[in-house]
Amino acid sequence: MKVAVIGAGGQLGTDLCRALTQFEVVPLFHCDIDITDMRSVRHALDAVGPAVVINTAAYVRVDDCETARDEAFTVNALGARNVAVVAQQRGARLMHISTDYVFGGESGPRDTPYTEFDTPVPLSVYGRSKLAGEDFVRHLCHRHFIVRSSGLFGVAGSSGKGGNFVETMLRLAAERDELRVVSDQVFSPTYTRDLAAKLAELIETEYYGIFHVTGGGACSWYEFTGEILRLAGSRTAVVPIASDEFPQKAKRPGYSVLHNCHLRLLGMEGLRPWQDALGDYMVERKSR
Ligand SMILES: NC(=O)c1ccc[n+]([C@@H]2O[C@H](COP(=O)([O-])OP(=O)(O)OC[C@H]3O[C@@H](n4cnc5c(N)ncnc54)[C@H](OP(=O)(O)O)[C@@H]3O)[C@@H](O)[C@H]2O)c1
Repeated sequence: MKVAVIGAGGQLGTDLCRALTQFEVVPLFHCDIDITDMRSVRHALDAVGPAVVINTAAYVRVDDCETARDEAFTVNALGARNVAVVAQQRGARLMHISTDYVFGGESGPRDTPYTEFDTPVPLSVYGRSKLAGEDFVRHLCHRHFIVRSSGLFGVAGSSGKGGNFVETMLRLAAERDELRVVSDQVFSPTYTRDLAAKLAELIETEYYGIFHVTGGGACSWYEFTGEILRLAGSRTAVVPIASDEFPQKAKRPGYSVLHNCHLRLLGMEGLRPWQDALGDYMVERKSR
């Protein structure tokens, strides 16, 4: 089975191309396909003739989306539409990657994980543009998997963000005695290698629909940083702060933990705890 991976040079795309060992993988880099251009999408996918298309491409800089709204919606919504239209026309199945940031905009605090059956209310332009992309996929390509994940870390780093959170914390810890990190945003860190392996499993099924696939457990960015520095043997102190002490252009959900409910209902295993995955990531990054 031929699988085209869009965004192959990205953090998740890199691990996906490695994980799809049982398939004939065709990596599509940004230079091979521009999802914002329907002709480019047609041209690239017609040349491949895939049975499955996986779209990991996105405009991922959450804060920049607040000012570059047109760009965010062009890539995350219209780009998703273009891929969905061509996948449907060519009879391919489509796996589309989305985010926990489609949630968090309802009023009042939350402390229970969101399931696939909850109604998303995004807080930011990024979240709204990704949700618009999901809607296009749902309506335009019948055989789709929409996979929402969160807090990705992988050895390729996010090309859109210029590295990932783990690498940023390790770099800052080497430069400073103390790191101040928000403790009122709770999520599930997800190792792209684990996510990629689960996506490879999922595309062999006909269980279409929305899936939440994240690392097991949950933590705040403060707790995540504590574990990163502990594993690195760093002596830098980590101090918890509130989000309003670290103003950012885009609002983030205070709680965006995703219950991997659909996987559980199908009897499929979820991902291992984020702490175990982070331990392996720390080993993997050293071997590169
Ligand atoms: N990073 C996270 O923490 C996180 C959390 C939840 C969900 N997600 C979702 O997971 C997916 C993968 O994220 P990631 O961290 O792997 O991002 P990434 O490293 O930035 O990868 C995105 C890839 O998309 C490519 N791309 C951007 N615009 C494109 C376009 N118009 N046409 C074709 N390719 C384009 C980029 O290429 P260039 O770099 O060459 O432009 C890059 O290779 C995204 O859908 C994101 O929304 C990410």
